[in-house]
Amino acid sequence: MQPGEIAAWVREVRTGTSGPIQLNNWIPDAPPARDHNQEATLRTFLANWGPEVGPDVADQDNQPDFDEQCQAMLDAAPAIISSIMGLYPAAYVSQLKARGIAWFATATTVLEATQAEAAGADVIVAQGMEAGGHRGAFDPGQAETALVGLISLVPTIVDAVKIPVVAAGGIADGRGVAAALALGASAVQIGTGFLRCPESRIPGGWREALGKVRPEETALTRAFSGRPGRSVATAYTRAAAGPDAPAPGPYPIQRRLTAGMRAAAAKTDDLTRMQAWAGQSASLSGTISAEALVRQIWSDAREIVR
Ligand SMILES: Cc1cc2nc3c(=O)[nH]c(=O)nc-3n(C[C@H](O)[C@H](O)[C@H](O)COP(=O)(O)O)c2cc1C
Repeated sequence: MQPGEIAAWVREVRTGTSGPIQLNNWIPDAPPARDHNQEATLRTFLANWGPEVGPDVADQDNQPDFDEQCQAMLDAAPAIISSIMGLYPAAYVSQLKARGIAWFATATTVLEATQAEAAGADVIVAQGMEAGGHRGAFDPGQAETALVGLISLVPTIVDAVKIPVVAAGGIADGRGVAAALALGASAVQIGTGFLRCPESRIPGGWREALGKVRPEETALTRAFSGRPGRSVATAYTRAAAGPDAPAPGPYPIQRRLTAGMRAAAAKTDDLTRMQAWAGQSASLSGTISAEALVRQIWSDAREIVR
């Protein structure tokens, strides 16, 4: 979001609730190395899946300014500001502390968790490899090799840090919540599990796929953005992983190159080439209202823990 959009969104949310809110931001990677030959090959490959990709699409830098986003988040004064894909700079962490805003840092490995704690994080969000959406690995080069499942990640991080740990990845029902609490987590974060709730605005094809996709039918792919994320394994993600397909460009080059295809897929509700993020437990996702689902999951978890 652009800084003005962050402020507007917070205003809108606060008209509906007086409860505490959390804002989240991606820590930017270093500017990507460009390979114009590879980009040309990718444009040809992508033209088979979506509209033609113009030669200057990858040059169009519409990335919001990170420092201005961070300032907009501070100005909004939420209870929590979280991070993914890295750590906030020390000066920003000091500003968070001065304003009493808690920093929840996403970590995908024990090393990242200890680095986050040393940098001043108040809570670790331990994101297992089961998780839907982008992986929060600090170094994109490690995102596919340092793959840790949540059942190993949570207790090892709990033992390595003194701050509370939130478990994320593959949790979608009371069983998962109870398991995370048994492993030492203080709370859980659920993403995919809410995507089929009536409040979610995802296209119908994606919604339908989530209800039936098996864990092994999701895939970790760089083919949408250049950063690995877990999505429904679709015809496009399979083709992009094929032996003849060009390697995806780095983030955000690949994201810019696929923008036309992703927009066309969402508009036409075409799952085959849609950016349909999905965690491995997608089929456990609920279809009742988000509020009723939270109550159901918590009551089921309490029953198991009792
Ligand atoms: C559609 C979607 C978008 C997401 N976007 C973000 C994001 O912008 N920032 C972030 O920290 N995590 C993001 N996540 C990851 C979640 O915070 C969380 O780690 C993940 O959903 C947990 O795994 P689960 O999907 O199996 O519940 C996203 C997840 C999904 C499914």
